[in-house]
Amino acid sequence: MTAQPTAARRPSHGIVGAGFAKQLFGKPPERRLKAELDAGLERVEQVLRDEVRYADEVAQVTTTYLLDAGGKRLRPMLVLLTAQLGDTTSSTQLDRAAAAVEITHLASLYHDDVMDEATLRRGVTAAHLRWSNSTAILAGDLLFARASQIFSALGPRAIHLQAEVFERLVLGQMHETIGPAGGENRLDHYLQVLADKTGSLISAAAIYGVMLSGAPSEYEDAMREFGEGVGVAFQIVDDVIDLSVQSEKTGKLPGTDLRAGVETMPVLLLEQRAEAGDTAAADLLERIRTRVAGTTPGSADQSLARPDAVGSTDEAEIAGIVAELREHEVTRETIAAAQAQVRRATDALEVLPAGVVREALREFAERLVDRDF
Ligand code: FPP
Ligand code: MG
Repeated sequence: MTAQPTAARRPSHGIVGAGFAKQLFGKPPERRLKAELDAGLERVEQVLRDEVRYADEVAQVTTTYLLDAGGKRLRPMLVLLTAQLGDTTSSTQLDRAAAAVEITHLASLYHDDVMDEATLRRGVTAAHLRWSNSTAILAGDLLFARASQIFSALGPRAIHLQAEVFERLVLGQMHETIGPAGGENRLDHYLQVLADKTGSLISAAAIYGVMLSGAPSEYEDAMREFGEGVGVAFQIVDDVIDLSVQSEKTGKLPGTDLRAGVETMPVLLLEQRAEAGDTAAADLLERIRTRVAGTTPGSADQSLARPDAVGSTDEAEIAGIVAELREHEVTRETIAAAQAQVRRATDALEVLPAGVVREALREFAERLVDRDF
């Protein structure tokens, strides 16, 4: 689409997008790469402004709502970074792919917040509360359609990859919603959900950079593995951050997921121990399920988890149970699982030529999970 520039608020890229690039490329030989990525992210912002544009006012307002609310631009950054493995002299296709990946991510957030009954996204009221469930779902659909249009102009392989990602996003969300089948290992099921709902799009971002820059096609498998590992690691770290006292800094109460009844990796590991006969683990699990879960009915969002939502005695008890889980060995095992996924990602980089791009990807993976616990 062609369009005029808008006066929309510029998003903050957080630590992973432009800000992340600043941290990543301190040394002189890396500065050129950093400058290219910074410039690329600026161009991608403009493509996003130009592409998320509709004659229909309702469509325009609702689809730009979360785009304007910020976001780390992690996925566009990855497209631009892996494109450095090939030829970036003609950057238009890469910029469009980077924007389309971000638009796909945005689309999924609109839908996810309806399903999660979230109240906040990117610091603003969730779209379904601002308008309605139907409007939020339709805004997500519009964005997904727009991303598909962009990918279709980038060639059959590009649109095929997008279709694969879309299928995995939906399957991941479906499996999360429905839960494991009878007899299915709950931890395996959980990891598959993380891979589908997060690993799929991150790995596609890494692949698009290779695919559209004419880099050697054998790098694509490495980028798939890299992105899957990064995506799963990122989600596992979220489970640990949920228990963190640091989360108070971000306005989230420790144990937001647990309060909403979401059984994250530490809880699943606790369940495994309980089933193996560990009575202390069984006791903690029981208290999580009976005293913590359900204290934010129907929502995984922190803004419902206020101390005044339950009695003050209950809040002290909940905080104590969350602290017990945080200090439990299962939380250290969860951190180790995230680190193993990072290793999986960084091991996959071995086939790439040594140099600043490989090192930047390595740091990208390592810093992503090196967040406050
Ligand atoms: C966030 O998970 C959700 C996703 C990463 C994927 C959601 C996928 C869909 C809703 C399928 C539909 C997709 C499209 C493209 C229309 P989370 O709830 O664990 O993370 P959060 O804390 O950011 O909400
Ligand atoms: Mg959600």
